[in-house]
Amino acid sequence: MKAVRIIEPFKVECIDVPKPEPKEGQALLKIEAAGICGSDIGAFRGTNNLVSYPRIIGHELAGTIVSIPENNPKGFKVGDRVVAEPYMFCGHCYPCRIGRTNCCTDMHTLGVHTDGGMCEYFCHPANMLVKIPDGMTWEQAAMAEPLTISLHGIHRAQLKAGEYCAVIGAGPIGLAAAMAAQAYGAHGILIDIVQERLDFAKNSVGIEYIINSAKEDAAARIREITNGDMAQVVVECSGANPAIRSALVDYVSHAGRITLTGWPKKETSLPTDLITKKEVDIRGGRNSAGEFEEALDLIHTRRVDMEKMLTKTVTADEAPATIVDIEKNPGNYMKVVVKF
Ligand SMILES: NC(=O)c1ccc[n+]([C@@H]2O[C@H](COP(=O)([O-])OP(=O)(O)OC[C@H]3O[C@@H](n4cnc5c(N)ncnc54)[C@H](O)[C@@H]3O)[C@@H](O)[C@H]2O)c1
Ligand SMILES: [Zn+2]
Ligand SMILES: [Zn+2]
Repeated sequence: MKAVRIIEPFKVECIDVPKPEPKEGQALLKIEAAGICGSDIGAFRGTNNLVSYPRIIGHELAGTIVSIPENNPKGFKVGDRVVAEPYMFCGHCYPCRIGRTNCCTDMHTLGVHTDGGMCEYFCHPANMLVKIPDGMTWEQAAMAEPLTISLHGIHRAQLKAGEYCAVIGAGPIGLAAAMAAQAYGAHGILIDIVQERLDFAKNSVGIEYIINSAKEDAAARIREITNGDMAQVVVECSGANPAIRSALVDYVSHAGRITLTGWPKKETSLPTDLITKKEVDIRGGRNSAGEFEEALDLIHTRRVDMEKMLTKTVTADEAPATIVDIEKNPGNYMKVVVKF
């Protein structure tokens, strides 16, 4: 079967590998669509120190069940259309025991710590599959995973209707967070330093407010938009150190909440006295837990229309050249889905 594999940084190939055999408790999936994520590009660049090589990438997976144990917990049958929850947790550490499996102390994410599913057939635990609504396209289903990340960030901040939600970073994660915030009845304020991404968010996706923080005084704009209150919620989705600092210093309201979803490469220094003074809740947001059903429903009902950010669909054979091009020209792409 075909698989998209990174041999070592800056070397990617579509190769032929043996079809896997399901182990106990696993389903065999015919993968139909796999999204290319920023972390797959990070694996290609060699900038993600969690990735070891060679590595089959891919964790945004949608497919058809080819085989599955009888009496599987969710009652799936051969032929069912599903997405795979890609965060392989241990099940017995403290966060796992309290249901926060997304921040397991021994997390193995597909395509990062262990081979992923950008291949024709893939084995996955039967209890980590989620059914796709009838009529949903494979591309839509493959884009549920990034939406779960964004939703998790919003849930961690306990966003409510009517609040102002500033989202930093207009990449797929931030854009989906701003769309989800608006689906929750909040006012989306999307901040980035790349005007094209902001224009796309405003004109093609319908995000209420956009701010280019490289050109405008973002804090002043937020003050104006919120009638002086500032943003009750900030979801940080850029991973840029100055943006993380601005979330606390410049954008969040007193009594506000911040989720740090973006994954910075270096540490950020913060004036912690402001956390006390503003009484801000700052929370991390890693992966997602139990958020796939909601993401699929939001996509299916088009309350969060992820298809708007689909740049293109490619075949497995075209995937390596596409990955090389995304790495060189990231500005030309939002989301690419590989169809098998
Ligand atoms: N917590 C998690 O589980 C999780 C999961 C997936 C991705 N991530 C992280 O989320 C972040 C976003 O992912 P993505 O795929 O959308 O990435 P992306 O690179 O496509 O988007 C990041 C955006 O941030 C913008 N940006 C950079 N510096 C900025 C600054 N100083 N101010 C404002 N905007 C700035 C960039 O122009 C870009 O549009 C990354 O840090 C990624 O590692 C975290
Ligand atoms: Zn992803
Ligand atoms: Zn665990």
